[in-house]
Amino acid sequence: MRFNVEAIRKDFPILSQKVNGKQLVYLDNGATSQKPQQVIDAIANYYKELNANVHRGVHTLSQLATDAFEEGRAKIQQHINAKESYEVILTSGTTHSINIVANGFSNMLKDGDEILISALEHHSNIVPWQMLCERTGATLKVIPMNLEGELVMDDFDSLLNSNTKIVAVNHVSNALGTINPIRYMIAEAHKVGAAVLIDGAQSVAHIKPDMQELDCDFYTFSAHKICGPTGTGVLYGKEEWLNKLIPFQGGGEMIKEVTFEKTTYADLPYKFEAGTPNIAGVIGFGAAIDYLNAIGMNAIAQQEEEILKYATAELLKIPELKIWGTSKEKVSVISFNVGNLHPYDIGTILDNSGIAVRTGHHCAQPIMNFCEIPGTVRASFSFYNTIEEVDLLVKGIVKAQKMLN
Ligand code: ALA
Repeated sequence: MRFNVEAIRKDFPILSQKVNGKQLVYLDNGATSQKPQQVIDAIANYYKELNANVHRGVHTLSQLATDAFEEGRAKIQQHINAKESYEVILTSGTTHSINIVANGFSNMLKDGDEILISALEHHSNIVPWQMLCERTGATLKVIPMNLEGELVMDDFDSLLNSNTKIVAVNHVSNALGTINPIRYMIAEAHKVGAAVLIDGAQSVAHIKPDMQELDCDFYTFSAHKICGPTGTGVLYGKEEWLNKLIPFQGGGEMIKEVTFEKTTYADLPYKFEAGTPNIAGVIGFGAAIDYLNAIGMNAIAQQEEEILKYATAELLKIPELKIWGTSKEKVSVISFNVGNLHPYDIGTILDNSGIAVRTGHHCAQPIMNFCEIPGTVRASFSFYNTIEEVDLLVKGIVKAQKMLN
């Protein structure tokens, strides 16, 4: 069946909007995706018909809300093929999820232990580990990158050793779109007994990750990158690891018994879910997963691959345009600079034409430092983007080039 992008676009009310008097061309999907009516309806219906707190009351609404919330968890479990539903911890997003793990290791590391991250990480997969190192005396090591935006795997091999306790890398780079060879990295890290956390924030929109096949110990992602709402995300963790981690936040719902002398913690997943969760968010998350699966993740990947190929070829026709991140394995993200023009200026002129891109360091300053640039313009495409929108982007950049030169 042909991918019907026009029909799909009708599901997204925002895509028919005008911005600055021009038809919106939304190419900032790496920052957040747009939401289909199905997700908006699921959230609105929860507030209209089910609103109550979960896991708390015997009353009907509380039970209905709990069922809908737990159905959201079950949909996520199925989508990522986690073995158990309690291995799916519901969080506020990827950053929260990574911080739960980094904090959870606080009493498991000591001087001489090493945490291995990569040069391609988002700040949220750097800073929590630096904070963990400060608390424990462990040392942070970094797998270097090359100018294609790929990790140097020989260096990964030599950095990995029996002191490595945690390997934390992203599945896909947010700034460059590189897909990292995580299967190899997970298998090698396990040979030295290290736990592996994969930051899936930028992969889940393009790739359906299979937890049992990947065999990683932790996988983190946010709903808002996959057509779901902001403020909700997932920490997948293997049961044995989640049981070892200390809880991140204390409060209601995460306890078994509280006395002033001692508190015992709830079983998984609730041990990591203190406080009232984002109930509407999780219900919307489930609706987003249903939406993506109805289209099919393979169809989505194919459509995005076509857009990536076309956009790369067309952008490279622009004189002085340089693409950062040229790995053979990449998702539909193109980071670029045009001569010495400042990314912010290009982004502002594109915005005047209704074209939304992200500019700057993309919360990945070490990548920009390595490339010796202040930042890039990043166009990140989704399955609802079209070839015509790529043409408008190219036209917009040429116009910006003329205005700024
Ligand atoms: N991490 C998100 C991005 O890359 C916000 O834009």
